[in-house]
Amino acid sequence: MNKTLNVALGNRAYPIYFKNSEISLRHTITELREAKREIRILTDVNLQESQSAYLKSVGFDIAEVIRLPAGEPTKSLNAYAQTLSYLAKENLNRDSVLFAFGGGVIGDLAGFVAASYLRGIDFYQIPTSLLAMVDSSVGGKTGINLPEGKNLVGAFWQPNAVFIDTTLLKSLPAQEFSAGMAEVIKYGLLADRALFETIESSDALTAESESLPAIIRRCCELKAHIVAQDETETAASNGRALLNLGHTFAHAIENAAGYGEYLHGEAVAVGLILATQLSVKLGQLEAAWVNRVHSLLENHALPVRLKSPLEIRVLMTAMQRDKKNRSGSLRFVTLETIGKAVTTEGLENAIIETLWKGVGAV
Ligand SMILES: NC(=O)c1ccc[n+]([C@@H]2O[C@H](COP(=O)([O-])OP(=O)(O)OC[C@H]3O[C@@H](n4cnc5c(N)ncnc54)[C@H](O)[C@@H]3O)[C@@H](O)[C@H]2O)c1
Repeated sequence: MNKTLNVALGNRAYPIYFKNSEISLRHTITELREAKREIRILTDVNLQESQSAYLKSVGFDIAEVIRLPAGEPTKSLNAYAQTLSYLAKENLNRDSVLFAFGGGVIGDLAGFVAASYLRGIDFYQIPTSLLAMVDSSVGGKTGINLPEGKNLVGAFWQPNAVFIDTTLLKSLPAQEFSAGMAEVIKYGLLADRALFETIESSDALTAESESLPAIIRRCCELKAHIVAQDETETAASNGRALLNLGHTFAHAIENAAGYGEYLHGEAVAVGLILATQLSVKLGQLEAAWVNRVHSLLENHALPVRLKSPLEIRVLMTAMQRDKKNRSGSLRFVTLETIGKAVTTEGLENAIIETLWKGVGAV
């Protein structure tokens, strides 16, 4: 169960290490040092506080750590520019290596810095949040937000390896754990009904749950498989875009509410409800599933409605700007059944507006 996974991407293939991943990490660091390659670790203030012992124990030097403020606002042009300038001032060359030690914010930013500094340097992911372990650290999507929209600037840049150590989750705040559960539930909905039902039939998962490492590994397996088929999301339909289940809605919520108001996973939870309702509206899915998805999200302390009213007009504008749209038409991921998602285009705006109303938009 705990064996290493391979992300099969030809000459950009890489391993995801699970059990005893810190041994593989220590080994990698030792090899890099032997090859006299400069190392830097991008992290945020929370991680440096809660996990500095881990950083030292695997062989990093605290002087190599670049520390940024925590949270979504750090995925910005400003933090990107500051990090690049720092690397340049330190005279880091093309053999230098960047490690991302953090959640999706640090992973996405570090990946984009690595993709663009000196036209690309090697980078490694050490995800520390549940969301980053099951989703953002795998697959090579990197980037930052603009005030105009989420993830509007970025690059596909695959890591050289991903090291997943679930013991790091012990210091993750409960609300952040819940946010990660939204992405876990997403995988069940879009690709694995048995996964959905396993989570549904047990108590709410926590960082201490015995079943958690296997569930995280299963999510990575599903993501690695989808990414290997459609690395840069260019398939005309389905493909990697299926991983965006709930995300067209979620990104609009994050943008309309202001980055940082919703944790990404919280916005995804509301997005999953909307995507499930849309699937029912289109006659693809049995109505009873809406309540099951609703209960599972609520059981993991996730929101199923907007926290406070947002304007439908603003949400619709944010959706139009979403980079997942094709040829001016809104693009959604819907469910044919639990465990089987499809991309859907050409829907009337009125259908979407009614759905927004149903979760408290005005
Ligand atoms: N690249 C992708 O494929 C992809 C996929 C999904 C989401 N994302 C992106 O990921 C981001 C969200 O990631 P996130 O939810 O991890 O947010 P995050 O990186 O902001 O981390 C959440 C919070 O938890 C803290 N934290 C993380 N790990 C911790 C630990 N072990 N102990 C204590 N505190 C810890 C962080 O400091 C932060 O305050 C969004 O920007 C989203 O767009 C990217």
